[in-house]
Amino acid sequence: MSSATPKTTAADITQATLRSFAQTPEPRTRRLLEAAVKHLHAFATEVNLTTNELIRLAEILTAAGKISDASRHEFLLISDIMGLTMVVDYNTNQKPEGAFESSVLGPFYRADAPWIEPGGDICRQENAGTSTLVSGRILSTEGTPINGAVLDIWQVPANGMYENTDPTQVEFNCRGRLKAAEDGAYRFWTVKPVPYPIPKDGPAGLILDSAERHNMRAAHIHVIVEAPGYEKVISELFVKGDLYIDSDAVFGVKESLIAEFVLHESTADAAAYGRPTPFYTVNYDFVLASGQAREEIMFSAGRA
Ligand SMILES: [Fe+2]
Repeated sequence: MSSATPKTTAADITQATLRSFAQTPEPRTRRLLEAAVKHLHAFATEVNLTTNELIRLAEILTAAGKISDASRHEFLLISDIMGLTMVVDYNTNQKPEGAFESSVLGPFYRADAPWIEPGGDICRQENAGTSTLVSGRILSTEGTPINGAVLDIWQVPANGMYENTDPTQVEFNCRGRLKAAEDGAYRFWTVKPVPYPIPKDGPAGLILDSAERHNMRAAHIHVIVEAPGYEKVISELFVKGDLYIDSDAVFGVKESLIAEFVLHESTADAAAYGRPTPFYTVNYDFVLASGQAREEIMFSAGRA
């Protein structure tokens, strides 16, 4: 009885594909390509991916490319809603115990926001929302105040739209940079942030709809904190008790980033703070690890 020619298996194809990339000269590129092959093949085998599903995937990726432009990066949005962005952030931005944790930069950052004085207001027009005083200290992991720290802050006002996507807002509304005092203290006024939707009109929305997921981000204030000799941290402060705190569409919430917004309604508080009630106060200390930023984030103007 003659033995049959062995069938080519999926594992054979995986091995052949890996061999085809084995001579990739640049080691990191080779590592990425080989791991991509292994995991993509394993994914296809695990779910028994059909040819029509593969074609559908290609169509979704094509649509993601078509809807993207200089200011909209649908692939990154898909990465965000699939939790990939936060996994990458976790793996590359591990901080020592007690240090300010990182979160997503998001697509709405603008460099060169105007400087405000200590105690100044980053919201530059009326009716931006309920006034909120954010204050605290910037400290090392040893608890010593950091001299020369800078905060870069941005957020949505009460209408849930970033100023660069909303022609009714003045330039740099609810954005600002400020320097902490020598003793690490910082203090600025803003408004209480509100939840806002991420775009649903592209493939990311399709994915969310297919899973019956909402597209809301938990209310947050974006913060970048940096100081000479310390690791720069890109992160967000979230509002304790927010409706979406446990279901942020991009998984940006970390327990340590949730801040209590304390409501003030008394006339005594209005007098003490020099603001009409109601308003909120938030106290939050930013603890930085010594060192340098490990990887400078390099987004084009639109994403960054
Ligand atoms: Fe945001």
